[in-house]
Amino acid sequence: MKTCWNPQRPGPMPYHRYRPYQDRVNVPAADRSWPSARIERAPLWVPVDLRDGNQALAEPMDTPRKRRFFDLLVRVGFKEIEVGYPSASRTDFDFVRHLADTGAVPQDVTPVVFTPARADLIDRTFEAIAGMPRAVVHLYIATSPVWREVVLGRSRAEVWRTVREAAERMARRAGDAPGVRLQFSPETFNLTEPDFVLELCDGLTELWDASPDRPVTHNLPATVEIATPNVYADQIEYLHRHLARRESVILSVHPHNDRGTGVACAELAVLAGAQRVEGCLFGNGERTGNVDLVTLALNLFAQGVDPMVDFRDLDAVRETVEHCNRLPVHPRHPYAGELVHTAFSGTHQDAISKGLARHARRAAELGVPEHQAPWAVPYLPIDPADVGRSYEAVIRVNSQSGKGGVAYLLRAHHGIDLPPRMRPDFSRVVQAATDGSGREATPKELYELFRATYLTEGAVRLHAWSTHEQAPGVHRFVCALETGDRVGDFEGTGAGRLTAFADALAGAGVTVEVLDFSEDQAAAFAECRVDGVTAWGAGTGPSAAVQAVVSAVNRAVAG
Ligand code: KIV
Ligand code: ZN
Repeated sequence: MKTCWNPQRPGPMPYHRYRPYQDRVNVPAADRSWPSARIERAPLWVPVDLRDGNQALAEPMDTPRKRRFFDLLVRVGFKEIEVGYPSASRTDFDFVRHLADTGAVPQDVTPVVFTPARADLIDRTFEAIAGMPRAVVHLYIATSPVWREVVLGRSRAEVWRTVREAAERMARRAGDAPGVRLQFSPETFNLTEPDFVLELCDGLTELWDASPDRPVTHNLPATVEIATPNVYADQIEYLHRHLARRESVILSVHPHNDRGTGVACAELAVLAGAQRVEGCLFGNGERTGNVDLVTLALNLFAQGVDPMVDFRDLDAVRETVEHCNRLPVHPRHPYAGELVHTAFSGTHQDAISKGLARHARRAAELGVPEHQAPWAVPYLPIDPADVGRSYEAVIRVNSQSGKGGVAYLLRAHHGIDLPPRMRPDFSRVVQAATDGSGREATPKELYELFRATYLTEGAVRLHAWSTHEQAPGVHRFVCALETGDRVGDFEGTGAGRLTAFADALAGAGVTVEVLDFSEDQAAAFAECRVDGVTAWGAGTGPSAAVQAVVSAVNRAVAG
């Protein structure tokens, strides 16, 4: 429908080839409570990088890489870790054996191993974990109509028979291995009839004789995302309400990210009753990836909820994951990307530098270190320092930046605190330079621009000078001055040393009015009017004050 404000027209894309989710799966009419629920506790996070993530890599990880990744996951604080698909490849089998043989798994960590519903492969999986004190054996089979028909060529009854036989075998094998728990994933859950999912899951809860002490994990994957996250939440809440022996079931979710909504699906699923979330660090995984556990955990953190994992050195985590996966993390990746705590735009920089200054004041008022004070800085959802980032990268300057960012960088990196009224002057210089280069200006380059603009010599040069208060409130200034091609000795008097200097300059034919002046330990700044032209100048070192006036004069004279 065309309206006066929306000129969009029917497009040429073949959208009619696709069907809405309502035509593909029955989602029971929801009596939902998830929209008003809150997440007050982290779910059990289960990284599947070493299985699902690894299956998506062009070059799967070898044992050293897997071990490095595993050790990282342990250090971060994950307590259940899917470590491989031992019946799928020698590498995976060997890695699980490596964990079993080297005692690399800490006492409070449980490895998960993945198996299809086939007798020989189940046996191989149990061989892989032999001797491990704890493990979860994870059985999967695709359950949705399209997969049943196209991939498996089995009816619902045949799928249940396959699952039951596999589950009985697993129960027998687990029976003599204490510490082994069992997990089931109806792959393509989100496209499967809800009554069939219930039939399979309840059948297994019963068959495996799950109890609150030895619960079964039912893991409900959005294997390929098909709908908005509210639909997945409805599907999860339906199972949460209808699963038998609910207190003996760990309800787990496993979202992928085909629609770019994996994180939203996981969060809404937790609101809907999920207790466990499978995903990968930084969202690696098949196609567009598994849900990103780093984002999920830090989203909770940013709400004031303990994520129960430690990302205080997020860059180190990212570097290890990039090394193991041989894939880069995008610079805009939530929380971890190189650019996500950085502001280039002038208005954002201004707000951030004001926010950081207020944060420092609040911390001082509360009598706590800055890293303990409550965080409320515009445009920064969390304190970058909490994930191991310095403030250095928070503000970076290019042609879109403003006076606030430029002033912040000069102050933070070079201790030069431009007076507020002078900031627009220097910002114009920076903008002309960055517009010309099309590049960012580093703090070093900013200082170089500052030096070239204010601290270089001009037509008026001060060679030697001295000043003293010859009577109360009367200063005398004596100097050797070079103005253009004239060199001479001059003197002047005034109520202060700068007015006395201005008087000496007048003697040399330069009429100067000092309009504004300030100085601190690093520099002095002066705004002067010379023959009707106003300019800012700066000086550093022992003669900073008078050099600031000379600098302003030279800039005014140069036009
Ligand atoms: O994406 C998926 O469905 C899976 C399961 C088999 C757990 O990886
Ligand atoms: Zn998956």
